[in-house]
Amino acid sequence: MNVLVTGGAGFIGSNLALALQDEHEVTVIDNFSSGARRNLEGFEGILLRADMASLDFNCLDADVVLHHAAITDTTLNDREKVMSVNCTAFGKLLAWCVEKNIDLVYASSASVYGNGPAPMKEGQKPDPQNVYAQSKLLMEEMARKAEGIKVIGFRYFNVYGPREQYKGAAASMIFQLYSQLLAGKKPRLFKYGEQQRDFVYVNDVVRANILAMKSKVGGVFNIGSGAAASFNEIVHILEEALGVEREIDYFDNPYGFYQNNTLADLAHTKSVLDYEPSFSSRNGIAKYVEWLEEQRSVSEVVL
Ligand SMILES: NC(=O)c1ccc[n+]([C@@H]2O[C@H](COP(=O)([O-])OP(=O)(O)OC[C@H]3O[C@@H](n4cnc5c(N)ncnc54)[C@H](O)[C@@H]3O)[C@@H](O)[C@H]2O)c1
Repeated sequence: MNVLVTGGAGFIGSNLALALQDEHEVTVIDNFSSGARRNLEGFEGILLRADMASLDFNCLDADVVLHHAAITDTTLNDREKVMSVNCTAFGKLLAWCVEKNIDLVYASSASVYGNGPAPMKEGQKPDPQNVYAQSKLLMEEMARKAEGIKVIGFRYFNVYGPREQYKGAAASMIFQLYSQLLAGKKPRLFKYGEQQRDFVYVNDVVRANILAMKSKVGGVFNIGSGAAASFNEIVHILEEALGVEREIDYFDNPYGFYQNNTLADLAHTKSVLDYEPSFSSRNGIAKYVEWLEEQRSVSEVVL
């Protein structure tokens, strides 16, 4: 299959491109606004440096698109900028897929649930609380109107794992806490670390995309681990993995809006896509720390 991965130099996109290249012809599109060339070390497919907004899709060939290019900074309030990349460019891509009869898998986000009740189900009322979440919900509305092709939207929960480190401050909380522990600092948490999150290891996200490519059915699906862990628990799992113990530095949450509890209800994803997460927070973090430590022994991880 010809697979087009947009945002393929980013965290999730690069994991997809590298995992799929043995069995598929993979083309990556990225404008490198937050992605990094280093994420694609070992990638042997086609890499196109281009902006989704101005790209002429007609120069491309694809059987399926895995759309992961986006402005992923959830704190950015510039509505025009976020909407132009996350929605307008997506609309153009969607129209091209419909015209050329190409399947489309795109990244939505669990942020659309806001502080709605957990476990979060695809059918519950969305409650997007920031521009980023609003853009993801609008993408879903646009995708629902597409006719004649299979379109799958994934509401990713908190994804972590290899190749996220170039996102800097936007990398997962697991990476931030790992970096703090490694630097000999106290791990820093919003008071009092009892917030619960569904953290999903990136390998499970890759598997979900592969299942989506095989699926005959479209729709919107949660992708999480199906279990929540508190921030305090995450610190303890990391401490065990690194063999250190530190006092936690609790501080006031500066954000007016914050998702305090997220948890994916996976019933719909399991029954339609046959998705079963392979990684709990504990074994996902253990595998991730192993990878980070290996990287460190080769070259310094960017902290
Ligand atoms: N990482 C998570 O926890 C998470 C959670 C929910 C949803 N998502 C969604 O999954 C997708 C991938 O997220 P990620 O964590 O890999 O983010 P990322 O920032 O690492 O990757 C996004 C990529 O898109 C590229 N990009 C941005 N604008 C572009 C444009 N106009 N043209 C071409 N390329 C462009 C960036 O350079 C980057 O490489 C995003 O749509 C994100 O909203 C991620």
